Amino acid sequence: MNKKESIELKSKIDINNIPSHVAIIMDGNGRWAKERFLPRTAGHQEGMKRVIEIVEVAEKLNIKYLSLYAFSTENWKRPKEEIEGLMKLLVQYIRSELNKICKNNIRIQTMGDISKLPETPRKEVERAIEKTKNNNKMVLNIGLNYGGRDEIVRAVKNILEDVKMGKINEKDINTKNFSNYLYTNGIPDPDLLIRPSGELRLSNFMLYQIAYTEFWFSDIYWPDFKEEHFYKAIIDYQKRDRRFGGI
Ligand code: FPP
Repeated sequence: MNKKESIELKSKIDINNIPSHVAIIMDGNGRWAKERFLPRTAGHQEGMKRVIEIVEVAEKLNIKYLSLYAFSTENWKRPKEEIEGLMKLLVQYIRSELNKICKNNIRIQTMGDISKLPETPRKEVERAIEKTKNNNKMVLNIGLNYGGRDEIVRAVKNILEDVKMGKINEKDINTKNFSNYLYTNGIPDPDLLIRPSGELRLSNFMLYQIAYTEFWFSDIYWPDFKEEHFYKAIIDYQKRDRRFGGI
């Protein structure tokens, strides 16, 4: 799609019905690289370029929250070199983008246990969180060492602790305040979940938050995911009739 077609597509977006929270499972980096006889890390590298672009596109569309699944609790099973490559990319991303992210008034938050990341990426992530903490145009919420099941179990443990300390009464626990114990505390549930690469599954992503989220799947790999795909996802989302279990 050329620039003119992409602008035309963008003009079809109803600016009064922009999803507040878009979540993306960035998938297909490995297959993208394999098709080109490149190492898997080359796919992740190209994927990082799409992260840079899509963050900018989302911010311009006035999306308030963008959640990206960058590293799951299961990704530690990958070969050491690939994990190291992903951690290096994370550091590279923060070092090269943080000033622009700040200038664009974007706040970086994470979900997942970042204390388990190697020291350099952990420190860079903490620096990014601290430096952007007062920004309020958009939250860029990055899943790092994140798993939906892990998040729910952690929430249960924290609730039990609060019950024990008398901070909350067992009978007052409900689906609303349970959300406060998730990593996404303070962030509304995603309106739209995008998963490229042809896989039709959740892969342990935001299991609690996604109850009434609209899904958008596409066959293209994340490294090929351009702004026009993002526009298409939003236009499709805007055609959905969201009833949240009502009529
Ligand atoms: C899934 O593709 C992708 C990942 C596990 C990593 C995503 C990371 C990036 C896009 C780059 C870095 C991100 C940031 C935020 C700086 P896959 O490897 O499972 O692909 P495959 O299913 O084709 O093998």
